[in-house]
Amino acid sequence: MAFSYMPGFGNDFETESLPGALPQGMNSPQRPAYGLYAEQLSGSPFTAPRGTNERSWLYRIRPSVRHTARFSAFAQPHWKSAPNVDDHQLALGQLRWDPVPIPTVETDFVAGIRTVTTAGDVLTQVGMAAHVYVANVDMVDDHLFNADGELLVVPQQGGLRFVTEMGVIEVAPGEICVLPRGLVFKVELIDGPARGYLCENYGAKFTLPDRGPIGANCLANPRDFKTPVAWFEEKDMPCRLIVKWCGRFHVTEIGHSPLDVVAWHGNYAPYKYDLSTFSPVGAILFDHPDPSIFTVLTAPSGEDGTANIDFVIFPPRWLVAENTFRPPWYHRNIMSEFMGLIRGQYDAKEEGFVPGGMSLHNMMLAHGPDATGFEKASRADLKPVKLDDTMAFMFETRFPQMLTRFAAELETLQDNYIDCWRDLKKRFNGTREGDWS
Ligand SMILES: [Fe+2]
Repeated sequence: MAFSYMPGFGNDFETESLPGALPQGMNSPQRPAYGLYAEQLSGSPFTAPRGTNERSWLYRIRPSVRHTARFSAFAQPHWKSAPNVDDHQLALGQLRWDPVPIPTVETDFVAGIRTVTTAGDVLTQVGMAAHVYVANVDMVDDHLFNADGELLVVPQQGGLRFVTEMGVIEVAPGEICVLPRGLVFKVELIDGPARGYLCENYGAKFTLPDRGPIGANCLANPRDFKTPVAWFEEKDMPCRLIVKWCGRFHVTEIGHSPLDVVAWHGNYAPYKYDLSTFSPVGAILFDHPDPSIFTVLTAPSGEDGTANIDFVIFPPRWLVAENTFRPPWYHRNIMSEFMGLIRGQYDAKEEGFVPGGMSLHNMMLAHGPDATGFEKASRADLKPVKLDDTMAFMFETRFPQMLTRFAAELETLQDNYIDCWRDLKKRFNGTREGDWS
C-alpha cells in the first residue's frame, strides 16, 4: 500500500479519508459527518504568538477519553529521562561506541529504546534525551504517546512505518521522522530488523533555522517536508496504550484501536524529511563555516542563537577550499555533541566510527580529527574532492549530556577511543616551516 503525503513545513493542512468528513467553515459542528467526534489537539498554549501557535482538529470515531481507561505502571527500564545523573561509575571522557546489537529476543520499537544521554529536566520542559532503538518485531496492538516531548527518529538500518493517529509515515535510512508530543502511534518494520537513533525533545518544537544572509533558499527547504494524509482503522479488539509522562510509564487497556481519526486539519502534525534533499552551503575559497551551516532543524531555548537542540547533518558534498585544512578543526565547545553515522565514513575519523555507532563529545571536552585524518588532510593535494556516500548527524544541545548506566556499561563502548589522537605529533621546532618529517 502506498501512502500519500502533503508537502510543506508548518503548513495549515487539511485532509480527510472519507468524503465530506472534514467540516468546512467551522471546527465543531453540532453533529459532525459520519457521527465522528471533534477534538482539538494543542501543541502550544492557546495564547502562543501566531508564529509558534500550533493545534489541530481531529475528527475521530471515538474521542481520546475513550482511548484511555485506568492506568497502571508499565516497565520500561532502559528509557530514562532527565535528570538522570550519577547512576554509573564511568570517568569523564570523550566516548565512542560501536553499534548496539539487534536483540535476539522479540523486541518492538518501544521496548527497544535505550537511552544513551539525558540533558536538562523533563519536568520543566527543557533539554533532551539521546536514545538508540533496536527492533525486530512490529507493534501490533500496542500504541504509545509521549507527553514528555516530540521524537525525532533517525533510522540507520531498516525501514519503519509509523502508523499514527494522523496518518501513516514510512521512512528508510537516510530519512527522518518527527512525531509531535502527545501523538498516538505504533511502529511496524518494513524490511526486517531495525536500528537507529532518537532525539527526545523536552522543549520547544523543532523548527527550521533562520537562514540569515544565505537568503530564501538552500539548506532544508520547506517543500521537502512531508506530512501524511488522514488514515484510520476501525478495529474493535483489545489494544493497549502506553504513555510516557514526566519520565514514568503507564499503560491502559482499551477495546479498540486508538488510530481512528478519519479527518483532520491544522498545523500540529507529524512529518518526514529526506536528508538527501538538504542543499548544503559551504566554503568556496578558503576555511569553512561552523557546522551550524548544516543545521536541518533547530529547537530554540528562548535565548537567541542558543539552541535547546540543533539537529545537524554532514551530507555528501564537494570540498574545494584552497590552502585549507578541510576536515573539522580541533575544538572545544560549550554545546554538547552526540553524533551518529547513518552510512559511509565521517570525514574527521578515518576508522573506528562505523555506521550505527555513536560518539559523545560533551561540554568543553576537546576533540577533532584522529591522527590518521590529520596526517592525510595536512598533506593532501587540494584538488576538488567529493565526499560521497556519507551521512553523519549530530544532536547538539546547550546542556551537558549526562550518560546513562546503560551507555556507560555497554559492551560496544570503545576503551581505546582516546588513542585516536595519541599519534598527533609535536610539529613545532622553532622554524617557520615546522617539523613535517
Ligand atoms: Fe565537535
